Amino acid sequence: MTDMTMAKPNMAEPTRRDILYVATAAVGVVGVASVIWPLIDQMNPDLSTLALSKTEIDLKPIAPGQNIVVKWQGKPVFVRNRPPKMVEEVRAVPMSELIDPETDQARVKVANWLIVVGVCTHLGCTPNVGGDYDGWLCPCHGSQYDASGRVRHGPAPLNLLVPTYEFKTPTSVVVG
Ligand code: FES
Repeated sequence: MTDMTMAKPNMAEPTRRDILYVATAAVGVVGVASVIWPLIDQMNPDLSTLALSKTEIDLKPIAPGQNIVVKWQGKPVFVRNRPPKMVEEVRAVPMSELIDPETDQARVKVANWLIVVGVCTHLGCTPNVGGDYDGWLCPCHGSQYDASGRVRHGPAPLNLLVPTYEFKTPTSVVVG
């Protein structure tokens, strides 16, 4: 007759060694979590960083034909109040003449206000107002941009970047 009281090997009571193993694993998880939390916490931007991620610009003092440069996230942003004739001229340029074809209408929200990041798309210099296209000339290697911030003469391959922005009022814009 078979002994029915004998325990099967996989049903054995937890030994002292098993309990120690489980306890160690739990400490391990808590330990990792406490190391990860400060890392995750460091990745959350503080309030000063969030404030720098947006820049509000008062457009009232910028007369037609004037440019200003503001700092946004450590980069220069060019803001130009374009007179109607300048808008007409950039809108009349055939796409076939452009190195990085893009309509002026796609680059602005309000016809007279051009807002672009002032970082040359060649190697990152800051262009100055000037050049042959009513826009900007990069002093580093001679790239030229027009009054829509579109590259018209290389070696820069791309138009000046249009940052994210919103008009808060007709005379106030928030970049970022
Ligand atoms: S960095 Fe502007 S042309 Fe080279």
